[in-house]
Parts: sequence; C-alpha cells; structure tokens
Amino acid sequence: MANEKIILTGDRPTGKLHVGHYVGSLRRRVELQNSGKFDKIFIMIADAQALTDNADNPEKIRQNIIEVALDYLSCGIDPTKSNIFIQSHVAELCELSFYYMNLVTVSRLQRNPTVKSEIQMRNFETSIPVGFFTYPISQAADITAFKATTVPVGEDQLPMLEQTKEIVRKFNSVYDDVLIEPEILLPDNKACLRLPGTDGKAKMSKSLGNCIYLSDTEKDVKTKIMSMYTDPNHIRIEDPGQVEGNTVFTYLDAFCKPGHFEEYLPEYANLQELKDHYSRGGLGDVKVKKFLNNVLQEELNPIRARRKEYEKDIPEIYNILKKGSEVAREKAAQTLAEVKAAMKINYFEDAELIKEQAEKYGQN
Ligand code: TRP
Repeated sequence: MANEKIILTGDRPTGKLHVGHYVGSLRRRVELQNSGKFDKIFIMIADAQALTDNADNPEKIRQNIIEVALDYLSCGIDPTKSNIFIQSHVAELCELSFYYMNLVTVSRLQRNPTVKSEIQMRNFETSIPVGFFTYPISQAADITAFKATTVPVGEDQLPMLEQTKEIVRKFNSVYDDVLIEPEILLPDNKACLRLPGTDGKAKMSKSLGNCIYLSDTEKDVKTKIMSMYTDPNHIRIEDPGQVEGNTVFTYLDAFCKPGHFEEYLPEYANLQELKDHYSRGGLGDVKVKKFLNNVLQEELNPIRARRKEYEKDIPEIYNILKKGSEVAREKAAQTLAEVKAAMKINYFEDAELIKEQAEKYGQN
C-alpha cells in the first residue's frame, strides 16, 4: 500500500538496556506506538549485527535476546501493536544486503563516522571483520525491507540513516522506484541525545560500570544516584556550583516533568529555579540527588512492575518473538520480490524473457 507510515527500529542484544536507551529512543517508541499514527511498527533485536563484532562470543548474544525483549515489553512496547522480531530469523535481509553491497564503495564505508569510531573503540585497526565493516549496508537492508518511513533511534545512528538514504536513491535510480527513503527521528531534548554515565563520562558502558539499567532494583538505582558525579569543585553547600556538565542536572533535564516539583520539591517552581540556586550556592548535592532519585524511581517503578509480570512466563516471550519474526519475514519477502523484479533477476516469473530467448533459438 502506498503512503503507509511504517516504523522500523532496533537494538543490538549485547546487554541489558539502560536509561540512556530509554530517553534516547525507547520512551519515544512507546509514544509513537500509542499515538495510533503508524500503520505498522517493527522492532528488531539485531542479533546478526551484534555478531559482527562478537563472532567469538555468540553466547553473549544468545543470553541477551530475552533481556532486550523483556526491557522492550516492560517499557510498554505492546506486542499486539508492535511487531518484535529477531534479525537472524529474517533471511531475506541477507539477500537484500548482498545486492545492496554492489551499490556502495569501500571508501564510502570507510568514511562512515560511526564505523570509524567503532573501529577505533574496538582496536580493530587492520583486522576489521568484513561483516562488521559492511554492517551499515545490512542496516540499510533492515530499514528498507520493511519500507520504513520513520526510524526512531539515538544520535549515533545518524550516519547509518545517511548511508541508507544513499542506497535507496542509488537503487531507485539504477533499477526502479521500489525503496522508500526513511526519516530519522531523534529525541527533541538535548540531554536525551546522549545521556552520560553516572560517572560523568560521555558514554554509558557496561565495562565502565556507569549505567543505570531499566531492570535495576530500586535500591541499586538509589545507590547509583547518590554516588553520581556532580561538580567536583562544589565542596561546601555554600559554594557556587556548576550546572553545566553536572550529571545530576543532565539527568534532571532528561527526566524531570513540571509536576515533579509540586510533588517532591515544592519550594522550587521549576528546574530553572533549582539550577539558579545551585549556581548561586547554598544548595547541597544530596538534596538534588534525592530529588532525582524520586523522579527516576517514579519513571522506573511501572517498568519494573511490568517486567515482573512478563518474567513469569519466559517461554511465552520466545513465542512472541517467533510469531513476530514470521510476520516480519512476510513483509521482507514481499520487498525482496519487488527488488528482484526491479533488477530483473526474477527469471522464472519473467515470461517475456523466456519467450525472447526461445525466439532467439528459433522457437515460436
Ligand atoms: N545499529 C543499531 C544499534 O547499534 C541496531 C540496528 C540494527 C538498527 N539495524 C537497525 C537500528 C535498523 C535502527 C534501524 O543499536
């Protein structure tokens, strides 16, 4: 159907999802799902992509698929409205990637900023796995297979979307107008674009131990907040404090809603007043941290409660993923058929070709 509005997005199952994933994309996906504005929603657990830099540790991926699925469901992704599926179980995606590879140059892949920085981060240097190097192409297959119009992801995925659009334009101009150019949907709040770790470091990462996970207990979350990085020069309460680069305030920017002050900190009208007081001096870190704890727990409590329910029937979660993968496969197969027809490599369905060749050999 033309003009359908379709969402495709996903995550690599290399660990549990954290609050950075939540404000960066998950929260938005749930809103979009419940807006009723989309005809179809596909949410993919990108296990095949996760394997591109974890070839020696498939067990890690195997263990984390259920974690990511539980995180999705507990955030409010509703399997009756959104189709959750597993990338490796949609074989058509590989076939699409194989054809798209011919439309992309090695030097273009080398210039992809996300690939570049990931190569550095992983110390691949000269031993870059080919599968890893080409994953932007496979990601273009993920997006185009579902004719996605909208891709809600974090900022780090911008270069992937750029590359996807280029492949779409190239395919459509070389062959036929089959593929849809997707639009990226980034968080509208700056703090949500890249939520720092609890230690103030730019990136949350499991190995740094600076993440707040969606599945953390109330107690763990509180401990992590109370030891969060703030302004190292704000030693006594009377000292003026720095708000910029202060993790506690960045988290408040990402999570605080107007009603929170009335409920937990009525002596301030809004976040700006709290920030002004902190900058002037006379406001202690503990008070701000306790407020953040209230705000964050309020957001995480319903997520934890839903998780508890879903955890009661794990085989059913695998069932949801299996059914979701079947639905995804149908859609991807349809696109693949259109792609092959546009490339005219659907020989057996091409009566004209068969007739033409027969005539060439003197048969009428
Ligand atoms: N690259 C994404 C991540 O690292 C996962 C992903 C794979 C994805 N294919 C996608 C996201 C397609 C959006 C669209 O989490």
